[in-house]
Amino acid sequence: MNSVLLTRRIPSSVLRTLESACSVDLYDGPSPIPPDELVRRLAGKRALISMLTDRVTADLIDAGSSLSIIANVAVGYDNIDVAHAKRRGIVVTNTPDVLTNAVAEFTWALILSAARRVAEADRLVRRGDWKGWALDFMLGSELKGKQLGIIGRGRIGKAVAEKAPAFGMHAVFAARQGRPAQRDELSLDELLISSDVVSIHVPQTTATTKMIDRRELARMKRSAILVNTARGAVVDEEAVGWALTERLIAGAALDVFEREPAVHPSLIGLESVVLAPHLGSATRETRTAMADLAVRNVMAVLSGETALTPV
Ligand code: DGY
Repeated sequence: MNSVLLTRRIPSSVLRTLESACSVDLYDGPSPIPPDELVRRLAGKRALISMLTDRVTADLIDAGSSLSIIANVAVGYDNIDVAHAKRRGIVVTNTPDVLTNAVAEFTWALILSAARRVAEADRLVRRGDWKGWALDFMLGSELKGKQLGIIGRGRIGKAVAEKAPAFGMHAVFAARQGRPAQRDELSLDELLISSDVVSIHVPQTTATTKMIDRRELARMKRSAILVNTARGAVVDEEAVGWALTERLIAGAALDVFEREPAVHPSLIGLESVVLAPHLGSATRETRTAMADLAVRNVMAVLSGETALTPV
């Protein structure tokens, strides 16, 4: 029987499907599997089902000399040295499509939270600081009639844009590098200068790392909100703290961070930023669908078929 290393418990119905076809070595610790434990357990495994918290480096891949597939339970795969896996003839898969709606919905939850100060208001009420209704108390900004600038025209960016008319917002996209700009696309600078909400939906690559830094934040409207549900490293977190403190932008909502679970200390004390612990895809339905897709990829490859969602 093929042996599979699974670095985190998955929903039991999906686990049972995997166990019916493979011998499963499940790491069931409370936090991500330590790197040395991952190396040790990888010996003899034909498949690795990895989480985005697992660093699947070239050295780790070399340690998995029997591996045929690495199935990442995430749409992003910046945690995996894909080029090295490919050189070794190992298939790498991700989980596109199944999480698109969940991440788009959560992006809107963050946009609304930042615009209407929901997290800040919740903290105020719990502290006992609410003195009652007042005409000028905790005013936010309305979305209707405003521009939503989306950086990243992939599945999630498009799904976020599709929901914009429900809030009376007009969505524009940042032009993609090396492609002719479409009617609804602006250069990155134009998008930053003219948008009321800027939402990031690009994968983390060398080209996108720190693509939003002090220079870009300084171009945004002073009334604008920055939202990141993509990858932390795409945004310079320290620069976001600076832009909020200097009131160069009005608010931010971040679901992802450069060194998760650490958050840059400059953000912690700021009321104008909503901080979420990487929850974009965190619904029961979606996490089950993500695990199911990873398992179906493993079962396909181990039975000699083509992977469903190779990267
Ligand atoms: C992904 O799939 O890459 C998401 O970040 C998980 O929530």
